[in-house]
Amino acid sequence: METFTGDWLALRGAADRAARSKTLAAQFVSVLPSNPRVLDLASGGGANAKYLETEMTWSAPGAAPSWTFVDGDTDLLAQAREMTGPVELRLADLSSGISREWTASVDGVTASAFFDLVSSDWFEAFAHCVRGVPLLFALTIDGRWRWSPAHDRDNDIMAVFARDQKRDKGFGPAMGGGAAMAMIRILNAHGFIVSSRPADWRLGTAHAALLEALIQNIAAAVTPYGTDTLGWLTCRRQQIGQGELRLRLGHLDLFARPALFSDSEVS
Ligand SMILES: C[S@@+](CC[C@H](N)C(=O)[O-])C[C@H]1O[C@@H](n2cnc3c(N)ncnc32)[C@H](O)[C@@H]1O
Repeated sequence: METFTGDWLALRGAADRAARSKTLAAQFVSVLPSNPRVLDLASGGGANAKYLETEMTWSAPGAAPSWTFVDGDTDLLAQAREMTGPVELRLADLSSGISREWTASVDGVTASAFFDLVSSDWFEAFAHCVRGVPLLFALTIDGRWRWSPAHDRDNDIMAVFARDQKRDKGFGPAMGGGAAMAMIRILNAHGFIVSSRPADWRLGTAHAALLEALIQNIAAAVTPYGTDTLGWLTCRRQQIGQGELRLRLGHLDLFARPALFSDSEVS
């Protein structure tokens, strides 16, 4: 299983929250009943649920959702416990898919920063299991990036990084940067009406630690392919230290509603 440290998830938390589409999150919340039961897949420490609880207005005071968090990492799952409403923690390896029973008793399914890890076959089977249920999938990478200032190694290094993002992480060949567009196509084919909004990371002087971790992650991912990153890394580190480096990294947020919701039900 691909692992993610709590430190990395904490580091990216502020950029994730700033990037997300409040409009789509509000549309998702608007189609839920009061006191909804929501399943959050690959929840990690529950960042997605915490965002929704703090940024959204729920139907009545104290009417926060009851959450079921599913993840394969025990330590991260334990961090997801601190929510306003009731919480169920489910330790599971999602690589073999989910069961239709998981979604039979929930009012909505959410996930964030997850689906680039899975294959299109996995997502097809998943879309079948969640049919009829409103979905909010935040922060799926879509393959766009722009470093500023540009470096003449950016194209080579980011191409190899994109290749590594498609490596099999236990779910079959990962969708990587193609995830968001593939998800829209597959969800449409399963009877969902899908709305999407850009949720790009816009990193700059306020995100030195995240940029530093990101360039290290990129270098670590591309080195096994024989890509030399030394000059690029040194230059990028200097630019971070001098507050000069900026990165726009493309993500899409998706809200998918089953076709049975009429437009007037979505505020
Ligand atoms: C990038 S993190 C996102 C976590 C969280 N949704 C967030 O936005 O902070 C991806 C999550 O997928 C989980 N994951 C990866 N492979 C998994 C698998 N095979 N089964 C269950 N969870 C998995 C990781 O443990 C991690 O929590």
